[in-house]
Amino acid sequence: MSKADIIVGIQWGDEGKGKIVDRLAREYDVVCRSQGGHNAGHTIWVDGVRYALHLVPSGVLNKHAINIIGNGVVLSPTSIIEELKQFENLEGRLFISDKAHLNLPYHSLIDQAKERMKGDKAIGTTGKGIGPSYADKISRTGHRVGELLNPEKLANSIVENFKNLEPVMKALGIEIPTFKECLKDILEYKKSLEPYIADTTQMVWKALGEDKKILLEGAQGTLLDIDHGTYPYVTSSNTVSAGACTGLGISPKDIGKILGIVKAYTTRVGHGPFPTEDNGKAGDIMADVGKEVGTTTGRKRRCGWFDAVAVRHAARLNGCDSFALMKLDVLDGFETVKICYAYEKDGKEIDYFPTDLTKVTPKYETLLGWSSVKGVEKFEDLPKEAREYIGRIEELTGVKVEIISTSPEREDTIIL
Ligand code: IMP
Repeated sequence: MSKADIIVGIQWGDEGKGKIVDRLAREYDVVCRSQGGHNAGHTIWVDGVRYALHLVPSGVLNKHAINIIGNGVVLSPTSIIEELKQFENLEGRLFISDKAHLNLPYHSLIDQAKERMKGDKAIGTTGKGIGPSYADKISRTGHRVGELLNPEKLANSIVENFKNLEPVMKALGIEIPTFKECLKDILEYKKSLEPYIADTTQMVWKALGEDKKILLEGAQGTLLDIDHGTYPYVTSSNTVSAGACTGLGISPKDIGKILGIVKAYTTRVGHGPFPTEDNGKAGDIMADVGKEVGTTTGRKRRCGWFDAVAVRHAARLNGCDSFALMKLDVLDGFETVKICYAYEKDGKEIDYFPTDLTKVTPKYETLLGWSSVKGVEKFEDLPKEAREYIGRIEELTGVKVEIISTSPEREDTIIL
């Protein structure tokens, strides 16, 4: 009986999970997504060809791996059908849980309209209907992927549900689709997706029983978790490692190694508190050098210094065994670099991540910067200052750094 390893984002997403998952996916037999939807996104280059992944797990690029989209994901049929066009037939290599909830076009319309109405109080969502589709799931008015197999019944049930939603949709100016329109879409979804629909829980259990190597690929980041993140400026799923259990139907005993992916500085897209945000020159440099633009929405990411308080908190929530430290090269050339080691709140120094982040100011320590780590492949070849920076991150967070990424290139990775 094997155990499933987890890769989890430690900050507000966009830590660079794609590069690590892409590298590790080759060593695994099964790669699974367990939460989120097409709000996630990363680009992978293989042999000069660009692949944009939103819902399909990264194991798709390893011809020997099976890919599973678990029950905890909200699945947009239109998005995945578009995504599948990049690949040859994936039948037998991709499986979608019949229990995953559907994210339908009206969910995006509701998401976008609600955001518009909130004005400056908007969350800054990706506009992909993630919140409204999870809301339907929790309200027990959602629809699941398995229902696509019975189109007339599903279309009827969706139209029935619109009766409850009618006042909301009218107020938001959203036109309600007719039964005929719904049925037409569902028939199309069924035609494209039927070969992939399966009871994936049974498949994962079987793979564990057969001692297969299983990788669970997290989406978004810990600080966007619906329970533990900076609510309400969060996404609508459990992004922490524990979410992978419910999102796939496995028990905590089935989990093996937990690898946290952490960026050498901090970024966030959308609104919400961000104690170490740097609105000055340093933040601009990180944004430019790190090409900090969202893959899914094209939005510019907010940037700032490494927040060891937030990372320590996230490491504990996830039970991280080790970290992959990403984008260290983006800090090349800074004369000094800063790490937030504590916060000041209500005149007191605190060393924990409080539920209420208002009136929190970061307390920094300053370290010497380094000229360049770009492309370095051995730890000993890193400049002394960069090694000290990594050492300090380990001390402050209590987690060992196992992988260091020194450029976007796949080979430029130090494995300790
Ligand atoms: P939603 O997930 O579209 O509802 O957006 C909620 C919040 O999560 C917003 O701040 C988004 O910017 C953020 N978010 C959602 N998905 C990602 C992601 O993959 N990377 C980074 N931030 C994300």
